[in-house]
Amino acid sequence: MKNLHIPAICVHEYGGPEQLQLQEVPVPVPAKDQVLIKIVASGVNPIDWKIREGFMKHPLPYVPGVEASGIVTAVGEGVFGKKVGDEVYGAVDGSYATYAVTPAELLFRKPHSLTFEEAAAMGGAKTAWGALFDVGRLVKGQRILIHAGAGGVGHFAVQLAYNAGAYVIATASAENIDFVTSLGADEVIDYKAAPFETQVSSVDIVLDTVGGDTTERSLQVLKPDGLLVSIVQMPDPEKVTAAGVRAQWGGTKTLAAMKEVHKLLDKGLIQPYVRKIFQPLSQAAAAQEYSKNGGAGRGKIVLKISEV
Ligand SMILES: NC(=O)c1ccc[n+]([C@@H]2O[C@H](COP(=O)([O-])OP(=O)(O)OC[C@H]3O[C@@H](n4cnc5c(N)ncnc54)[C@H](OP(=O)(O)O)[C@@H]3O)[C@@H](O)[C@H]2O)c1
Repeated sequence: MKNLHIPAICVHEYGGPEQLQLQEVPVPVPAKDQVLIKIVASGVNPIDWKIREGFMKHPLPYVPGVEASGIVTAVGEGVFGKKVGDEVYGAVDGSYATYAVTPAELLFRKPHSLTFEEAAAMGGAKTAWGALFDVGRLVKGQRILIHAGAGGVGHFAVQLAYNAGAYVIATASAENIDFVTSLGADEVIDYKAAPFETQVSSVDIVLDTVGGDTTERSLQVLKPDGLLVSIVQMPDPEKVTAAGVRAQWGGTKTLAAMKEVHKLLDKGLIQPYVRKIFQPLSQAAAAQEYSKNGGAGRGKIVLKISEV
């Protein structure tokens, strides 16, 4: 496929959704230990519009997107365990394109029980696993408050904490209470009806996936020496000390976390949910705006790029 060109979304300057330009780029060639995949669906994450707006100094130009599902179409030197035709999902930098390369070890076999759109939503599980277990050390019997239990990360966090035998309390809008309960939450708090800190107390761990004032308001619902794990922002350390609790950054993701998540998926113990599907690739701007504006629904936003 050398010298061929493929459609991709490119960002040349930081800014609004108009910076997402559909253009032709050379088809990437897999290097050592990489595979080339035909992308069927890309996950759409809040980090995508944050990078586009310049919150992180990502090198320009770039193709957005960090995760996808698709079909292996070429393998680089040294790749074991993946072959042309495999249906896969996992971490893929530059996933808003019809083809992309990624290290083979970051991809997992897509279970037949999942659609490609569902498989593209799995990245939130990896984040949730890292925050709950690698950082939070969550164990059976602990009380955990998970913010945004219907969100792309939160809906996995609720399922993972439930599977670990924790007592799970989650926040959600009224219309998502049934959904979050069905994922395994023991209690679901309508955070719009009253401040969550008036409805919950004495938790061992808070998983903050919301940020803003939710981060520091969460300090009051922890037990003494309880732990706030945030994947969005860190609270003022003086306020953490004054509250007699601890806080840690939870945004660390590892290959080990991906492997643990894949095992649970294979056993049918966790299930990805898709909030809304945008298609085709030219709808990338609409998908990012939906993510930024908190578009209604449950689970992850997905950009459908190709048919199988
Ligand atoms: N550091 C990392 O590695 C990492 C990785 C992934 C994500 N993140 C960050 O984590 C955050 C969440 O990501 P995501 O993909 O889960 O986002 P998302 O799917 O866009 O989250 C949307 C959810 O947030 C809920 N929500 C909004 N305001 C809320 C509030 N005040 N209290 C409780 N819930 C609220 C909404 O619930 P209702 O519809 O029920 O109201 C909605 O379900 C983002 O800021 C993202 O950038 C960080």
